[in-house]
Amino acid sequence: MTSAIANIGRDGAHGRVPEHVAIIMDGNGRWASQRGLPRTAGHRAGAKSVRSVVEESVRHGVRVLTLFAFSSENWRRPRGEVSVLMELFMSTLRVEVQRLVEHGVRLRIIGELSAFSDGLQHQFREAEAATRHNRRMTLQIAANYGGRWDITQAVRSIARDVSAGRLNPDDIDESSVGGRLSFVDGPDPDLFIRTGGEKRISNFLLWQSAYTELYFSDLMWPEFDAAAYAAALNDYARRQRRFGLTGEQVAANANVVVG
Ligand code: FPP
Repeated sequence: MTSAIANIGRDGAHGRVPEHVAIIMDGNGRWASQRGLPRTAGHRAGAKSVRSVVEESVRHGVRVLTLFAFSSENWRRPRGEVSVLMELFMSTLRVEVQRLVEHGVRLRIIGELSAFSDGLQHQFREAEAATRHNRRMTLQIAANYGGRWDITQAVRSIARDVSAGRLNPDDIDESSVGGRLSFVDGPDPDLFIRTGGEKRISNFLLWQSAYTELYFSDLMWPEFDAAAYAAALNDYARRQRRFGLTGEQVAANANVVVG
């Protein structure tokens, strides 16, 4: 987690490439229905967009990419669709891990992973271990993730520390919560992208998105190609992020080098 001023300095120092991009990949089902295909064909096509956006993120110099692959609510979908998604996670991980290593990408899976099969949990751990030394970019896949779940598990951890006498309630501050969320070793998302035309955050990174720039695309996720991603990055580059400050303060801070 970085301070507001540090965020401003970082943008200046990196030519306004977002350090952390978070994406809700929506519209797979509609993309398939529009073509008379089963929804699952949309998810398979969506997996190709995942590969493209990962490669483009590395190319543009994004440091952290978080993809919302499966929400806590997605279990309520038809059983056949859920199992195709699980199978897709397995096969994509199997095929892509080597590519991630080649691109210097570290993989992390965040969410309530105990709900997945033992086989899939094992594969998640193996893929994380195989890529753990990579430093060029971190790819976080949010699976069975919900922002409220994340805040709740952080609060539970705080309550445990208080009841064990390790933490004084008066010492609880934002970093006590932020430091217990699912990902703590990167900056908060600078840019949030949602495809598929809906304009909602849908219980994604609720705490971490306090100052995130929002970008909504009408394209369905399988249509979200390198050019569409570049357009989102360009849109972000043109925005002025104020973090509660005035425009004049931001302009003055743009020249401050933050260590
Ligand atoms: C939302 O579209 C998409 C999902 C719930 C799944 C996303 C999964 C992939 C892109 C597959 C591969 C991913 C990884 C990380 C290996 P939707 O089905 O809600 O579309 P709709 O709104 O049109 O119904």
